[in-house]
Amino acid sequence: MSERETWATRAGFILAAVGSAVGLGNIWQFPFKTAQFGGSSFLVVYLIAVLGIGLPAILAEFVIGRKANLNTIDAFEKLGYRNWRIVGVLGLATGFWILSYYSVVGGWVLRYIAGSLTGAYFGDPAAYFGQVSAGMDALVLHAVFMALVIGIVALGIEDGIEKATKLMVPSIVVILIALAVWAFTLPGAGEGYAYFLSPNFDALTANFTEIVPFAVGQAFFSLSLGMGAMITYASYIDGDESLFSDSLTIVVLNTFVGVLAGLVVLPLLFAQGIDPNTSGAGAVFVSVATAFAELPAGNILGFFFFVVVLVAALSSAISLLEVVVSWAVDNTSYSRPVIATGLGSVIFALGIPSAWDTAWLTWFDTLAYQLLLPLSVLGILVFVGWVYGRPALAELLKGSNAGEGLGLTWLWTARTVVIAGVVGTLILGFQTLFVGGAIVPPF
Ligand code: PHE
Repeated sequence: MSERETWATRAGFILAAVGSAVGLGNIWQFPFKTAQFGGSSFLVVYLIAVLGIGLPAILAEFVIGRKANLNTIDAFEKLGYRNWRIVGVLGLATGFWILSYYSVVGGWVLRYIAGSLTGAYFGDPAAYFGQVSAGMDALVLHAVFMALVIGIVALGIEDGIEKATKLMVPSIVVILIALAVWAFTLPGAGEGYAYFLSPNFDALTANFTEIVPFAVGQAFFSLSLGMGAMITYASYIDGDESLFSDSLTIVVLNTFVGVLAGLVVLPLLFAQGIDPNTSGAGAVFVSVATAFAELPAGNILGFFFFVVVLVAALSSAISLLEVVVSWAVDNTSYSRPVIATGLGSVIFALGIPSAWDTAWLTWFDTLAYQLLLPLSVLGILVFVGWVYGRPALAELLKGSNAGEGLGLTWLWTARTVVIAGVVGTLILGFQTLFVGGAIVPPF
């Protein structure tokens, strides 16, 4: 086997991981849920979830990846626990599953970039979304998005993913800042900020049982945990820099982009008098699109906005494809471009139902969110915390000047609080799936 690839620079690794983390979750979920769940009061809960649960969990994935220098399945065997490869298989399957419909949404975004320039959705944004979000249209653009993902991954770690994300992540931040400054000048922006961030403890306490699991789930999804992405990216680290500080940078940047997206989207909606009381697809493709349709120069602004969304989605999608590609590169003698094309095509095929009918997309997403993701994160935490244990601690402390005390705090947090958080999330997910009936596919 030829020598395994590595990141050229430490910044390259960090930016690639931030690119993976910053995605649709930050732009179309985070700002709206924050506003709905109590503004800055929710932000505090989210920060606790991210630092107390997300950070220990991302460290657990980094430890496995960097120590083993192998794909998410074989890593477990390399560390001496062959049977635990099952956790890697679960993560890989989860990534596979999620990418299939993530790419459909990526296709919609492509459509909206063009639609902003031509004004195609300006007449009736809701009807337009209905037309393009399912059927042949969606299928073709799903294929185009997947082709872009394959193209980048085929180029490899240093020449593909690292170069691309080094360009992508700064562009996301710069364009979002520019859009936020512009949004600030809109009449009525102040109300948007108030809606987004003013503390509302009543909203927080009234919905606590919904908010806490959401904050935990969002922390996992947003940090791309539980799908082998962070294990895989960490496996290309060449050297022993501090995983603590790298993770903290990633977590902080990821949250920053979510807040920044809120500073664009909510003033925009309020300035146009559009009800922001929705999240998910409708929020971005209907409400936000309506605002662009009504604004002077809406074409240009809409274009830049959807370009940001596209770049964010792409840099996340490549991390998902890389999980499976990495496994095949480590295990077969096919070339990376052949592997990327082959596996990308299979994932495309799995996404066909989601492209054809949004009910399938919702079903795929629900299953991923409520079952696959938490289960996979749980497997990783139990492994790192209780099975691998001490060597994990040693690996974590390598390259860091943090003391043993901080490391032990991490290990025990992972073993207890984080696992409890995941189990809680899983139980709630089970309710949605089995009691609520969400597990039944929409045939
Ligand atoms: N973190 C991404 C987001 O917030 C989603 C994602 C999940 C990306 C898993 C890669 C892997 O949208």
